[in-house]
Amino acid sequence: MIGVIGGTGLTEPVFLEDIQTVPVTTPFASAPVHIYLGRLGSTQVAFIARHGKGHKVPPHRINYRANVWALQHVGVRAVIGVNAVGGIHARTGPGALAVPRQIIDYSWGREHTFFADGLDAVTHIDFTNPYAESLRQLLLRSAADAPVWGEGVYACTQGPRLESAAEVRRLQRDGCDMIGMTGMPEAALARELGLAYACLALSVNWAAGLTEEPISMAAIGEVIDTGMASVIAVLSRAIASYGAAD
Ligand code: HPA
Repeated sequence: MIGVIGGTGLTEPVFLEDIQTVPVTTPFASAPVHIYLGRLGSTQVAFIARHGKGHKVPPHRINYRANVWALQHVGVRAVIGVNAVGGIHARTGPGALAVPRQIIDYSWGREHTFFADGLDAVTHIDFTNPYAESLRQLLLRSAADAPVWGEGVYACTQGPRLESAAEVRRLQRDGCDMIGMTGMPEAALARELGLAYACLALSVNWAAGLTEEPISMAAIGEVIDTGMASVIAVLSRAIASYGAAD
């Protein structure tokens, strides 16, 4: 089964049919994770709203371990994370879609590993290529005629505040192309559980300091409203081809 973790702007599985919600109890939280199980054509899909019902959990408080564990528990083997980002690279202006190739984690203080307690041996995962190439290629093939950039480095910042202009200049010097707050530890946790994982990013603003105007939530809201239609089109085609190959 394929899983989708929806972020800002994608809080309900509007692209699925026959939806049931299933509460999944995990070892990581007293509250269950609510998974939507549905289908697109004949493909079974599990969906999680990353920020919880009603979009109330901020990036640094998300229980990433519970979400990823719950998806694996219901039988998911591949996960597409949908993330809103701020653009740094010229290809990532507001409304642009990207499937990044690399990630740098600037977040801190998040529960970021399953390999901490009760281990038989210290465990390290290979994270040279943080995203599953097969899933990235599936997303890029599913772009059809929408321009989706298949490159780029995703910087994961702590949030919930946006960055200062100097922080963005530093991220740019580090080689980052887009900035979000939720790409990590999600990608690493998926790798720890052996799940294929890729990110479909929608740029909703230019990163701080790259334009004269301050970043406006109203402008971001407008880009999300129109951009999510392209995200859903790419996702739906990707899910349909995943089902055909599964
Ligand atoms: N920075 C960090 N995260 C974001 C941004 C940004 O500019 N836009 C959307 N998510």
